Amino acid sequence: MMKALGFRVVVAQPDMMANMDKFAEIVNSCSMLVGAHGAGLTNAVFLPEGAVLVQVVGLGIDWISNTYFGIPSPGMGLNYIDYKIEPKESSLISLYGKDHPVIVDPESITSKGYEVDRAVCLIKQNFNIDVVRLKRGRFFYCCHLEMKRGYEESSSSASLGPPQSKFRHNPDGDSQFLEDESTKIFARKVADHYSARTNQTLEEREASPIIHLKKLNNWIKSVLIQLYAHRGDAVLDLACGKGGDLIKWDKANIGYYVGIDIAEGSVSY
Ligand SMILES: C[S@@+](CC[C@H](N)C(=O)[O-])C[C@H]1O[C@@H](n2cnc3c(N)ncnc32)[C@H](O)[C@@H]1O
Repeated sequence: MMKALGFRVVVAQPDMMANMDKFAEIVNSCSMLVGAHGAGLTNAVFLPEGAVLVQVVGLGIDWISNTYFGIPSPGMGLNYIDYKIEPKESSLISLYGKDHPVIVDPESITSKGYEVDRAVCLIKQNFNIDVVRLKRGRFFYCCHLEMKRGYEESSSSASLGPPQSKFRHNPDGDSQFLEDESTKIFARKVADHYSARTNQTLEEREASPIIHLKKLNNWIKSVLIQLYAHRGDAVLDLACGKGGDLIKWDKANIGYYVGIDIAEGSVSY
């Protein structure tokens, strides 16, 4: 599932976990730790500062999940995200039925104390995660955050961790993208060119020597968007310009749109 979401997954085999030093090194090479609420998440102590901890929180275990992992995370230098299970994703619905207090009012079970909560909600609960819901939720933000943060360059992460990125932390803790001078100069030229472009009238546009190519490009983009975008999707449009494709995305009924462009003049249009 995580692979399908675009992550590079590190699977910890039992032999790795038997060696605490080795396992701590593996966890430390990861930028994200994902797991259902439980003791396994204490491995978060080995995560590097700035990593993301994602806790899958089942029904009726909000308090314990938040108290054990959610609240301590910022103090450990981690970005914490929870994924709260809906009744339809929980095995408790088939176990107790949709009208049981654990489904309609899980707080009423939690308030009976840890022993009851543990017996009813914790040890009997399995998840069947709705991947579509997961992809549309804060996970999207989480991926973005990971990209922004990038990976620390270290010998251990070079052998075990994700591929090296050009993102590095500066002393203030912000990420910066390392690029050579010529890349910067070209990027500036492109940005200035597009920022300086004025809006064309319909006649001016039709008079363009490449109008047929533009129309072909637009047709191809419309077809691709209709084929691959689904109702409610979250879209990251890289090089969005002045939003020339917004109508196409709108027709596909997407739910959320973020556009990025290097030309300040285009995005502020
Ligand atoms: C031909 S326009 C297309 C704009 C938009 N997608 C549309 O169809 O209306 C190309 C855009 O790519 C942007 N661009 C070029 N290089 C970029 C980069 N490295 N990062 C982000 N945007 C970039 C330009 O600033 C320009 O707005």
